[in-house]
Amino acid sequence: MSFPINRPRRLRKNETIRRLVRENRISVDDLVQPLFVVPGKNIKTEIDSLPGQYHLSVDRTAEEASRITTLGIPAIILFGIPEKKDSLGSEAYAENGIIQRAVREIKKTAPDLLIITDVCLCEYTDHGHCGVIKDNRVSNDPTLELLAKTALSHARAGADIVAPSDMMDGRVAAIRKTLDENGFNDIPILSYAVKYASAYYGPFRDAAGSAPQFGDRKGYQMDPANALEAFREVELDLDEGADIIMVKPGVAYLDILTGVKQKFGCVTAVYQVSGEYAMIEAAAKMNLIDRKAIITETLLSFKRAGADFILTYHASEVAEWLKEK
Ligand code: PBG
Ligand code: ZN
Repeated sequence: MSFPINRPRRLRKNETIRRLVRENRISVDDLVQPLFVVPGKNIKTEIDSLPGQYHLSVDRTAEEASRITTLGIPAIILFGIPEKKDSLGSEAYAENGIIQRAVREIKKTAPDLLIITDVCLCEYTDHGHCGVIKDNRVSNDPTLELLAKTALSHARAGADIVAPSDMMDGRVAAIRKTLDENGFNDIPILSYAVKYASAYYGPFRDAAGSAPQFGDRKGYQMDPANALEAFREVELDLDEGADIIMVKPGVAYLDILTGVKQKFGCVTAVYQVSGEYAMIEAAAKMNLIDRKAIITETLLSFKRAGADFILTYHASEVAEWLKEK
């Protein structure tokens, strides 16, 4: 049957009916706020490449975490900028490393907030790569041990979920094994299973000082041209024990997000990355777009595509909007 019997506009007549038939909505429950922790005390400095986001010292991170809890946001993800970097990224797994200290402090001010820690070496290595360098290449297997050590030290500090973002083969299995052997079999792994070698990470690398000092990350992160490979990555990570699968970046990879959800039915997260955020902020600043409408529409697109939750630099602001409603 078709027109004039069928008239889809009947269900778009006014906001009340649109509200009734709406398929997806953004809830504060879906949001994860990334935070950047830096050494020092009482520091809150706006990040040049990410206007509206801040470098926070441990004390100010703890303060921000309790504000975020008040907004109803269930989780944060932490990135650390260490005091010093070296070739093995040893601050990443130091007992008193920046993340380990931040986690312990946050647990005091915001005990119910879930702390996700990004597990990678690039912020901690002097060469800026996500693993150990051998013969000018990132060497996979020696890196696994360091990643597992990092995840374990985060769990020991009190992290609720560990999120490896390095894209080494076998890292989920290595982390799972180490966590389990040390009594942390109840700590979930959120795997950046589908992480593309993307230019959208530019502003993050400025914020974290983690740009590779030679070459690029194409030898370990995925080729943006590939989709089937993404599904193979997910299958491997689920086999290795990943509890949640992340797709990253967001808008440019919605097809992958939908595919992961449909094929695997697993808990699926999406990361709206720094470049996506920075582009919205820049265009809004130039008055080229309606900022709030664009942010809302973008977050909705992730839900529609199949995301269970969204890592976004807009999280706390969106939570404020949802409260006002
Ligand atoms: C670390 C890491 C990166 C991001 C999250 N974890 C940077 C990279 O892989 O170069 C990017 C996040 C963003 O751009 O917002 N490996
Ligand atoms: Zn990395």
